[in-house]
Amino acid sequence: MLKPFLFVPVLALLGAPAFLQEPQAAPAAPPAAQTQNLAGVPAEYVGKVNPVKPTAESQARAKKIYGWDCAMCHGDNGDGKGDVATEQKLTIPDYRDPAALKSLSDGEIFYIIQHGKGQMPSEGDRAKPDEIWNLVIYLRRMSNPAASASAQPPA
Ligand code: HEC
Repeated sequence: MLKPFLFVPVLALLGAPAFLQEPQAAPAAPPAAQTQNLAGVPAEYVGKVNPVKPTAESQARAKKIYGWDCAMCHGDNGDGKGDVATEQKLTIPDYRDPAALKSLSDGEIFYIIQHGKGQMPSEGDRAKPDEIWNLVIYLRRMSNPAASASAQPPA
């Protein structure tokens, strides 16, 4: 008895929207470069300029955070051979090599630290934005020991 009553509305619900949508072309996906880049970083982060002027203190703080949250994978000196990286056979670039971070903008590095990437966990709220920007500078200086020695931003 109930069946015919249920059958028709269900058909209408399932069938009608599909039928209505059929003639429309699927919306074209925007070019990948407009939404996010190859590193999976949203466009609005890519061009962000590092707002931080590093000081000896802020870099000392970055070094501490790096020691707590990054060195187990990235290695104390940035060689990518920390204990956890070795144990889990993670492939991590050597940041002592200036080429390693060259293709990433400061904004991209910021985003990757804050949100994580692949097997790398996100720093999330553990570090404040200013601290993450200082980490970006700290990482870049790993390939430039002369810059680490001074409190001046890298040229
Ligand atoms: C559990 C291990 C682990 C920890 C902890 C970790 N990372 Fe990573 N990190 C990785 C791995 C693995 C990759 C490569 C991810 C990929 O490309 O898929 C990576 C990639 C990166 C990249 C991008 C490099 C590139 O060439 O794409 C940056 C920058 C980075 N890490 C910085 C940091 C910083 C700063 C911290 C600490 C706040 C940190 N990472 C903590 C494992 C880790």
